[in-house]
Amino acid sequence: MARLIFLGPPGAGKGTQAHKLAELCEIPHISTGDMLRSNVAGQTDLGQKAQAFMDRGELVPDGLILDMMRARLSQADAKAGWILDGFPRNVSQASFLDLLLEEMDQVCERVVNLDVPDEVLVARMLSRGLKEGRKDDNEETIRRRLEVYRQQTAPLIDFYSERLQLVSVNGNLSVELVTAELKQVIGSCDARSAAVE
Ligand code: AP5
Repeated sequence: MARLIFLGPPGAGKGTQAHKLAELCEIPHISTGDMLRSNVAGQTDLGQKAQAFMDRGELVPDGLILDMMRARLSQADAKAGWILDGFPRNVSQASFLDLLLEEMDQVCERVVNLDVPDEVLVARMLSRGLKEGRKDDNEETIRRRLEVYRQQTAPLIDFYSERLQLVSVNGNLSVELVTAELKQVIGSCDARSAAVE
């Protein structure tokens, strides 16, 4: 069982690594970005409210995110563990998660911070923007996403280090090397690592 939070700037590889590690640990990969994009694609009420914020590289207001996360973490598949990717994104979301986990009698074991220099992040996202057409992967929005990360999300590094829950991993290596490092950090899932490339 594992309950992990993946922190890190946009483009750091949170989604890529969370997907692999979730498979390894047989737990859900819960990405607020993916959930929001699927709401935008489905033109739900939430998606329509969130879209303009996402297109500008701003955080979607907490009022829209917190109910969505409460509902997701209450689902049956999340009882045995999870990897959160893209949540919490600011101190108030982290405080909400603390209360929610207390209510659910759960504990987050580890917060993993993926470290990658800005120029590498920008290059990765521009390249994905060209290949996949993700709307917020354009230069102006990428710069704003990085600013929002520094102002609102980076303070979570101190928030979690003070509780000795935080581990920083060099995300500026090949995908495979970062996965190998993460497997070490998450020790308890090592037994199943052979099943994942
Ligand atoms: P979200 O989807 O969370 O985007 P993000 O944080 O900007 O993250 P990315 O998906 O760009 O990066 P990542 O770290 O997951 O890296 P990835 O593995 O994809 O959020 C999007 C928007 O939704 C936000 O701006 C906000 O508006 C809203 N939102 C989401 N959560 C919210 C919340 N909690 N509160 C409020 N608003 C919220 O990799 C990036 C690229 O690099 C890929 O092409 C990948 O193939 C490549 N790559 C990955 N690892 C490597 C490697 N080691 N070497 C080379 N390339 C690599």
